[in-house]
Amino acid sequence: MADIVQENDLFKSIFESAVEGILVVDPNGILLSANPAAELIFDYEPGELINQKLEILIPENLIENHLSQRDNSTKNQIPRPKELNLDLFGLKKNGSKFPVKVSLRPTIIEGKQITNVFVSDASELKTFEQELKSKDAKDRALLEAIPDMIVIQNYAGDIIDIHKPEQIYVPEHIGFQLPKEELIGKNISELVPPEMSKKILKAHDEAIKTNEIQIREYSLEGTNGIIYFEARTARLNNHNLLTIIRDITERKRVIQELKESEAKTSAIINALPDTIIIHDTEGNFLEIQESELISSLFDREKVIGKNLKDIYPIELSTKIINVLKKAHETQSLQVIEAPMPGKDRIVYCEGRVIPFEDNKLIAVIRDITQTKAVRDVLYVRNRALEAAGNGIVIADATLPDNPIMYVNDAFSQITGYGISEVLGKNCRFLQNGDRDQKAIQIIRTALKEGQPCNVELRNYRKDGALFWNELTITPLYNDQGSLTHFIGVQSDVTERKKAEILKDRIQKTLEMIAQHWPLDFIGDTIVETVEQHIEDCLASILFLDQEKQTLHNLSAPNVPN
Ligand SMILES: Cc1cc2nc3c(=O)[nH]c(=O)nc-3n(C[C@H](O)[C@H](O)[C@H](O)COP(=O)(O)O)c2cc1C
Repeated sequence: MADIVQENDLFKSIFESAVEGILVVDPNGILLSANPAAELIFDYEPGELINQKLEILIPENLIENHLSQRDNSTKNQIPRPKELNLDLFGLKKNGSKFPVKVSLRPTIIEGKQITNVFVSDASELKTFEQELKSKDAKDRALLEAIPDMIVIQNYAGDIIDIHKPEQIYVPEHIGFQLPKEELIGKNISELVPPEMSKKILKAHDEAIKTNEIQIREYSLEGTNGIIYFEARTARLNNHNLLTIIRDITERKRVIQELKESEAKTSAIINALPDTIIIHDTEGNFLEIQESELISSLFDREKVIGKNLKDIYPIELSTKIINVLKKAHETQSLQVIEAPMPGKDRIVYCEGRVIPFEDNKLIAVIRDITQTKAVRDVLYVRNRALEAAGNGIVIADATLPDNPIMYVNDAFSQITGYGISEVLGKNCRFLQNGDRDQKAIQIIRTALKEGQPCNVELRNYRKDGALFWNELTITPLYNDQGSLTHFIGVQSDVTERKKAEILKDRIQKTLEMIAQHWPLDFIGDTIVETVEQHIEDCLASILFLDQEKQTLHNLSAPNVPN
């Protein structure tokens, strides 16, 4: 019978080159022939199997079962269905058992009955199946817990098995929507768009060629936007591939959002004039953002990994470290200002320290050298204004009626009004209704034209007492040339004014005498002068008649009779 087998050349070449093991067995279970693949699978030398009993390839405990099956199939001549039978095991020459996939084909050649046994090593598949469908509850639970779809395909892309297809939402127009039973046996190219199946098959080829897991991402247009999948394909055995498919749409979305927010944050950080340094609580520099400020302080690369104490004097570094520790302990923002020795100048820095994660702290550093200089100048100026002997008023020229926004202490001393009583008011309240003064007109015009002016006018203290005010008003313009403020400087010139008036009056009286004015006119002028000069005074001039030794009223215009 071996002759018959040998004779057919075509049969021989198929027989020799087949990847699947082929055994030809007579009705008594004697091996008539075994192709090289079968010898390889069972670990036998070429020709070594010929005329051996088929039973040497079957584990002892399975022989009985095998014999009965063989009898049935030879009697009925019904070919076994060509399908996986994972419960079959083969026996290698060295006695080790291994899973085999077997299909039996009884046939008659020249009136003689033989059985072709097609056999392939199912070890890898078996191992995988065992792993997946392990009777061990833990493994089963694990398999169930995997939120992924698992597909087993042959090298040609036909689906052999599929696990949890419902895990993956695929848009309705895509073939993967089919129920599991219909998916099995279908080729990937029938199920997904051509572009995608091309990519998938390419990944399969790569997995087969390199024996390494191939990770690819695919996307499909769904009704609510694009759906993204990640597919990990691994070579399972000589025929099959295993692919784990996961829906990564949500992950993609989160990553995208994160990227956008990171981009936004880093844009903000870059746009800010501040510099960020990350410290631990011990004062070590963990990260330093590059910036002009940092370059003016130290060489960034040389400082990363060092401690504040390595760089700054002990007093300064201890002060900063204490602030870091306090921010960490209290889990709250701490602010510190310090002059930091820079490369070629002292840099005044403001540091805002915020606890971050574990032992880390973010310090937002700002160069406040200029701000501090302005602040210092302002401080000095304010002190100077406070200390000035003149009353100083600043009015807001951008608001209607030039309301007062600042007065110094001297203003209060001169006028008797406290600061809170005058803020927001116009200064005219000092005139107390005494409005018929030329000086007021001059001020009005100067203010209208944005010009400076200097006047002397009668003003009244809070208690109603008159005082002479020498007032200088200066307009203030900003860099754009807009009028922003008026500054008024007041001097109480009452004494000087009184002396001037007295001098005038005396001069006037002397002129009246020289010009022989009537005596009572001269007397009235003298009385007026005295009354004006001496506060709360009523004056009179009496005339003495020397002959009669009597007094006569010469001038007393204000004295009651
Ligand atoms: C900064 C500033 C300070 C002023 N100080 C005085 C003052 O000390 N005494 C006074 O009578 N008027 C003072 N004035 C003038 C009045 O506020 C007001 O401008 C003046 O009476 C003319 O305006 P009127 O005609 O609307 O009253 C000051 C005005 C400015 C803007």
